[in-house]
Amino acid sequence: MATSSDSKATTHSGGYVPGTRIERWLDERLPILRFSKEHLMDFPTPRNLNYWWTFGGILAFMLVVQIATGVVLVMHYTPNVDMAFASVEQIRRDVNYGRIIQGTHAVGASMFFFAAYVHMFRGLYYGSYKAPREIIWMLGVILFILLMATAFMGYVLPWGQMSLWGATVITGIFSAIPIVGEPIQTLLLGGVSVANPTLNRFFSLHYLLPFIIAAVVVLHIWALHVPGNNNPTGVEVKESRDALPFHPYYTMKDLFAIVVFLIPFAWFVFFAPDILGHADNYIPANPQVTPAYIVPEWYLLPFYTMLRAIDFNVLFIDSKLGGVIVMFGSLLVLFVLPWLDTSKVRSGTFRPLFKPFFWLFVVNFIALAYLGAQPAEGIYVLLAKVTTAYYFAYFLVILPILGRIEKPAPLPASISQSVLGERGNGPNEKVA
Ligand code: HEM
Repeated sequence: MATSSDSKATTHSGGYVPGTRIERWLDERLPILRFSKEHLMDFPTPRNLNYWWTFGGILAFMLVVQIATGVVLVMHYTPNVDMAFASVEQIRRDVNYGRIIQGTHAVGASMFFFAAYVHMFRGLYYGSYKAPREIIWMLGVILFILLMATAFMGYVLPWGQMSLWGATVITGIFSAIPIVGEPIQTLLLGGVSVANPTLNRFFSLHYLLPFIIAAVVVLHIWALHVPGNNNPTGVEVKESRDALPFHPYYTMKDLFAIVVFLIPFAWFVFFAPDILGHADNYIPANPQVTPAYIVPEWYLLPFYTMLRAIDFNVLFIDSKLGGVIVMFGSLLVLFVLPWLDTSKVRSGTFRPLFKPFFWLFVVNFIALAYLGAQPAEGIYVLLAKVTTAYYFAYFLVILPILGRIEKPAPLPASISQSVLGERGNGPNEKVA
């Protein structure tokens, strides 16, 4: 198997040769076929990528799903506080295939975030953020922030109780920022409270942002295609047999993963399309009735916990501003992560000390999400502080120190060696 794939990798890396006169004509004017062949088909991809590497493709697929379903929803949705809720109901009941399209878009948001979190934790474990892939990672963080903004604004559109009150809480956090906070809040709201102008603004931005996300995804992939993919060993591609052409090996693997991903996705859409939303959001928005608990969607919960964890003043910083600083800080720290992790070894697989801290970080992150859905009282208040502290300690203390004190396990000499064992050692060794 090894020999046949090696020869494929070599034959495919031959580059693009226009086959017909039309192709030659096009190639001299707009080399789009050459570009596709080089970047989508022949692109040398490490041969050892596991299924965690399929989530980038799944994310790209989800972006297309959200844009396609969203464009149809817009044809029937009315961005007006008196009609928005009813227009969503009308889509679900009267529009042809409306129940599926609306359900796919709503469930799609959760599936998108699920894939984004897997993709990010994959990067965290395998050190995909480390040099020379810092820019890929930073563009990823920008994508994540844009995704959160898009999802938050989308959740406001059906104009249910949680839409209104969630928007009130989240836009309210801006008012804590000195000097610029209140003007930003007024600009977002289009007035003094969440009302019709807010709905219009959020609708406009919710439609715009996915296209900005698409543009950033292009930069993300562009940046990826300069150094190429990282891989589970974290060892760079050294020889041609370390890599395979992207097509058909990874197009097929990604496609298979997308089909598997579609199974739970379809299950939710067909059997429980509303289960991921809060029950209160199926009640029309009412500015005179505040829900007992205001809870954002599950994918925003970890950050919501960090916002609420600061309930004490520190010098001239009051608790509200403190919460905002900690919440934005939790995202900002991701930007500088490539420079915080001092380890010379990329992949967590070869880092014995790193592993327990990483898995604790995963559990801690799930705990942060759980706590965001609990009332801010009793033991939950303390746990929110502890989990927030670990989130920051992981990036600011543990990763910088670990890299200095850890003795990593020996790395394989090459990707081929890690796949083929000792047989992959010498370039002249027969590996058939
Ligand atoms: C709309 C959202 C996103 C899309 C469509 C997307 C797409 C992709 C694709 C197609 C790849 C190559 C395949 C793979 O490695 O899985 C990739 C790689 C990568 N992405 Fe994303 N991504 C998104 C969000 C993010 C986020 C939120 C982060 C991190 C904060 C991130 C960080 C990375 C990194 C570090 C790589 C390089 C992986 C490696 O070579 O090991 N991406 N992305």
